[in-house]
Amino acid sequence: MPASRLPAYSIPDLRRLAQRKLPRGLFEYVDRGTGDEQALVGTRDAIRALCFEPRVLVDVSARSTQTEFFGQASQMPVAVAPTGAAGLLWFDGEIALARAARAAGIPFTLATASIVSMERVAAEAGGRLWFQLYMWPERSYSLELIERARRCGFEALMITVDTPVAPHREYNHHNGFSLPLRISRRNALDVARHPGWFCNVFARYLLRSGIPTLENYPSELRKRLNETQTPPKCDALNWDDLKDLRHRWDGPLIVKGILRPEDAERAHAAGADAVLVSNHGGRNLDSSVPPMQVLPRVLDRVGARMKVLVDGGFNRGGDIAKALALGADGVLVGRAPLWGLASGGEAGARLALDLLHDELLRVMAFTGTPRIEDFQPSLLHGQTS
Ligand SMILES: Cc1cc2nc3c(=O)[nH]c(=O)nc-3n(C[C@H](O)[C@H](O)[C@H](O)COP(=O)(O)O)c2cc1C
Repeated sequence: MPASRLPAYSIPDLRRLAQRKLPRGLFEYVDRGTGDEQALVGTRDAIRALCFEPRVLVDVSARSTQTEFFGQASQMPVAVAPTGAAGLLWFDGEIALARAARAAGIPFTLATASIVSMERVAAEAGGRLWFQLYMWPERSYSLELIERARRCGFEALMITVDTPVAPHREYNHHNGFSLPLRISRRNALDVARHPGWFCNVFARYLLRSGIPTLENYPSELRKRLNETQTPPKCDALNWDDLKDLRHRWDGPLIVKGILRPEDAERAHAAGADAVLVSNHGGRNLDSSVPPMQVLPRVLDRVGARMKVLVDGGFNRGGDIAKALALGADGVLVGRAPLWGLASGGEAGARLALDLLHDELLRVMAFTGTPRIEDFQPSLLHGQTS
């Protein structure tokens, strides 16, 4: 269905559509957090707690969300966050997401744990591509992955540092959700209740190449994943590894999962170009601090010397405006485009990004902020510039 015909006028609308389309196990894999979900809720609440003090009688007739990331223009200060297994929401979903980001004029970050390989995304979607790296315990495999990203022309490397071990997400066990996704006694009824998803997504993979798996993984790791059903993580990663990575990657290097100002300082000292203040969308460490609560301290510490990005809970253009007012250089969105993807593929993901863009433009008008450079902390109640 063309996205214009989707009955969705906001990201929450797209989430509701996605909930109807997806098997519950898959919906919850995307939607939920971890543990008691305090981080998930707190992350959104920290954004909601901020209020605008709008400026009036400002000529806002020439509004623009145009900005830049690493010296290249971006249509808005937003990039698509890496989300593992996005290709389970739509056939070849990572290609659809990357094309939507390209059409919206913003970067797309491909996850290490993607269903579609980085080579196919680069060849079939193009646009500004960043690659998210999970280091594996076997360094040689990871170094080969970085080489492949370079060969494919990925612009930036984003290393995720907040996942030394695989998080324990109880609902996945209850729902029978695993990677690779298998139809089992636990999820058969759930899948049977969503024949559209089964025929349009899962069965298409089965017919083409079998059970969808994590295509970037080397065959040895894929075999192990089949046995353990747990993506391997490197619990020995440290600051020396980051320095080593800096020497191996010439392009922009982004460190994802920073929640302390001194860690941002160390990332800068190791040669990173940007930090992404993130608690993984509340999916890893429960009760981790909401990114928006630590963002001002991270900005105080390193904001003048490196790019500071933030993610977690950004579902409205106004949410993005709040991060920009605090001083962030940009916002990454994870679930928001995924809800669009699940509802309507590339067009649905594009709709999600367009909705965020329209909302941001409208908030810029209402707050008397015609350009991205005009955002200041004083736009928020209780903050001074
Ligand atoms: C389904 C899903 C899968 C994710 N997979 C990854 C991943 O493979 N690597 C990573 O660094 N972050 C991953 N994340 C975290 C996102 O990159 C991002 O930090 C988070 O989604 C931001 O919160 P938001 O979804 O509220 O926008 C994932 C998030 C979701 C929702």
